[in-house]
Amino acid sequence: MLIYGAMPDFRCLKEKGRIFLDHNATTPLAQCVMDKLLEWAKVWGNPSSIHQTGRAPKALLREARNAVGDFIGSHPLEVAFTSGGSESNNWALKGGYWTQKAKDPRRQEVIVSAVEHPSVMKAAKFLEDQGAKIIKVPVSREGVMDLDFYESALNEKTALVSIMYANNETGHIFPIPSMVKKAHEVGALFHCDGVQALGKVTVNVQSWGVDMASFSAHKCYSLKGCGVLYIRKGLVVESLIHGGGQERRRRAGTENTLGIASFGEVAKNYKDQVSSFYEKVLALRKRLEEGLKEFVDGVEIIGENQKRVPNTVGVILPSGVYGESVLMNLDIEGFSVSTGSACSSGSSEPSATLTAMGFSRQEAERSLRISLGWGSTEEDIQEFIIALAKIIRRLKSL
Ligand SMILES: Cc1ncc(COP(=O)(O)O)c(C=O)c1O
Repeated sequence: MLIYGAMPDFRCLKEKGRIFLDHNATTPLAQCVMDKLLEWAKVWGNPSSIHQTGRAPKALLREARNAVGDFIGSHPLEVAFTSGGSESNNWALKGGYWTQKAKDPRRQEVIVSAVEHPSVMKAAKFLEDQGAKIIKVPVSREGVMDLDFYESALNEKTALVSIMYANNETGHIFPIPSMVKKAHEVGALFHCDGVQALGKVTVNVQSWGVDMASFSAHKCYSLKGCGVLYIRKGLVVESLIHGGGQERRRRAGTENTLGIASFGEVAKNYKDQVSSFYEKVLALRKRLEEGLKEFVDGVEIIGENQKRVPNTVGVILPSGVYGESVLMNLDIEGFSVSTGSACSSGSSEPSATLTAMGFSRQEAERSLRISLGWGSTEEDIQEFIIALAKIIRRLKSL
């Protein structure tokens, strides 16, 4: 059964009997999307068709492109729709690198931060296997990017820089505009993974100054399988997906009209709500952090005093408990959170982001990420703190 989130100015779905505190993984659908899904589904034509049936979906795309462009601070034609954040990141890295190298074969270096999402890290590894040199800018345990290292890494061989706006595990925000200026001084392209920024802070790709930026619809109360690569006017980036002439010949494939329409709808309704989200969620986060410090002995809030998006708290739990055991216990009690670790084929590795930041394997195994959203309430926070403190006491006593 579904009920609405508590904040009346932007309603979203909420599962009854569960407290969802994992909004950096995905977000519930906005009510304004739910209301229109059936209407959009009826517009089933191919937007590339020039006959009547293609006109309505084409109009949907146009409207969504205008709204999303407005939301991210770009011209609509600078918006290229993709299948999500991962595709946008892959396109930016591979396309950006190939484009630069074609212009000047000496440009073979790619700079990323040590804490990027796997869709950036693995795309960079792919380029490394093709002969690129990958340079990773360190980030401290406090969540601070080593800007001296960054500046000394930049040179006339740098093809591309890719740095995220906000980290998905810790919420730390990096100083994109000043980093962009430095990259442009040496003629490098700058891509920013803005997936965890959209909807949480005001996004304006023009004031960031970036050449490309990635966004994902499902991190922002819209449908899954839809994303955006912002490509600055005048920049021609090599395509990743070849075929038809969609997205102004930049990205082939019949468009995900439903996903795109949902992203547009949220963009339209949400654009003026971001600062209100920021304030409400920041107040909740403060309550959460105070509660954690008061009721969970030995908890560490990662980079607490650094600039962060308002909804994210990365913590290292006290010694003697595993993040994953805590997560499972919380799950049984009706709370959804996440650990930093990625589980694949039965083996669970500690978070690459946290170990890159200098946390030991043991510390990283005790990590937990709590990410709030538009539907989060004071009661959610109170209940969560009580449950977490109880679970930790129980696990420690075993
Ligand atoms: C920072 C960041 N970039 C990219 C992605 C990938 O986005 P998508 O799930 O739309 O592929 C994620 C998803 O967790 C993310 O947090």
